[in-house]
Amino acid sequence: MPRTEVVIPFGSRSAPRDTLGRPLRDLRISVMDRCNFRCPYCMPRETFHEKYRFLGSHERLSFDEIVRLTRLFAQLGVRKLRLTGGEPLLRANLADLIGDMTAIPGIEDIALTTNGVLLGKYAAELKAAGLKRITVSLDSLDPDVFARMSGGFGGVAEVLNGIEHARRAGLEPIKVNAVVQRGVNDHTALDLVDRFRGTGVIVRFIEYMDVGNRNEWRQDLVVPSKELAARISERWPLEPLEREYRGEVAERYGFADGMGEVGFISSVTQPFCGDCSRARLSSDGVIYTCLFATHGTSLRDSLRSGASDEQILDLMRDVWLKRSDRYSELRATAPKEHGDERKVEMFYIGG
Ligand code: GTP
Ligand code: 5AD
Ligand code: SF4
Ligand code: SF4
Repeated sequence: MPRTEVVIPFGSRSAPRDTLGRPLRDLRISVMDRCNFRCPYCMPRETFHEKYRFLGSHERLSFDEIVRLTRLFAQLGVRKLRLTGGEPLLRANLADLIGDMTAIPGIEDIALTTNGVLLGKYAAELKAAGLKRITVSLDSLDPDVFARMSGGFGGVAEVLNGIEHARRAGLEPIKVNAVVQRGVNDHTALDLVDRFRGTGVIVRFIEYMDVGNRNEWRQDLVVPSKELAARISERWPLEPLEREYRGEVAERYGFADGMGEVGFISSVTQPFCGDCSRARLSSDGVIYTCLFATHGTSLRDSLRSGASDEQILDLMRDVWLKRSDRYSELRATAPKEHGDERKVEMFYIGG
């Protein structure tokens, strides 16, 4: 695919750095606040029931609005896009949006995080539109544990079928994200490794995080990545791998026998705020500069009140220049003073 190289002069007004010197490189775009799962750690059923008021379609950004904002974000330094939800594949005609995004100067990588159930239907279409790679959430291969962690929706076979369709379509590398909760699915973690070792699919274990306000997070439910890595290493020795890019959230390990790699995302026990270059855009156009933010800034209001590109760029730049977020680091060092703030919900900004 032909690309126009966008060179952003270092230190110029157009490539802002936040108060901790971090550039803006990644944009995570939630295209849909709804989901067809009800994972208790993200959208517990008791809250997200039939009467829960999700956004109306007029409240969500249109594709044209998303593309316009993304183009402006690229001018500020964004190179990598990740589409998320809720469940992004519930957004109608998503491939059209991806097609438009591939034409944005400066964008080097477009990925998508999904629960995988709709991949069987859409993988080929997404690839044809220009999506590069995919990450599928799959917490366990055990049907009962899976059901407990998805709130009773979807199934292991459907997700595996989705992954197979993604593989056939060439949406690679495929990553599998598993949130680990002690006593819930940690006893099935090795089965996941066993299933995907040697297939090219990269399994990554995520420490259960205190995102949002409704998942009743407790520290004792977190399995520290070090503990999990030791358990895996006893069976399949692991060797640390170099990170692939600055700010990568996963710590990577290769299997000593050359059968691929596994990753650990350890935001609770080993926070990685120092290199965090991520901004998040909610489906109704609010920009958040941290996964644990309490406040965001609406770009939709500017878009819909006729603001010029320059005015929106100024607003985005201002938000980034003022940014000082490092929630996970603060929570790790002073847990009593952090963690009680009212936080944005994960399903709404996409993790
Ligand atoms: P790659 O580009 O493949 O490296 O993807 P990624 O790891 O950036 O994206 P992915 O959506 O797979 O992220 C995995 C998980 O890591 C997310 O779902 C979050 O749970 C967590 N995560 C990602 N970014 C952040 C972050 O900035 N802070 C924290 N605390 N967690 C994050
Ligand atoms: N802790 C850790 N990861 C979470 N995810 C959703 N909620 C949590 C949580 N509380 C993960 C999903 C998916 C990604 C978008 O974020 O499983 O892989
Ligand atoms: Fe849906 Fe993902 Fe949240 Fe589960 S974690 S409810 S699949 S958005
Ligand atoms: Fe970035 Fe906030 Fe996550 Fe730290 S906690 S890595 S600042 S999103």
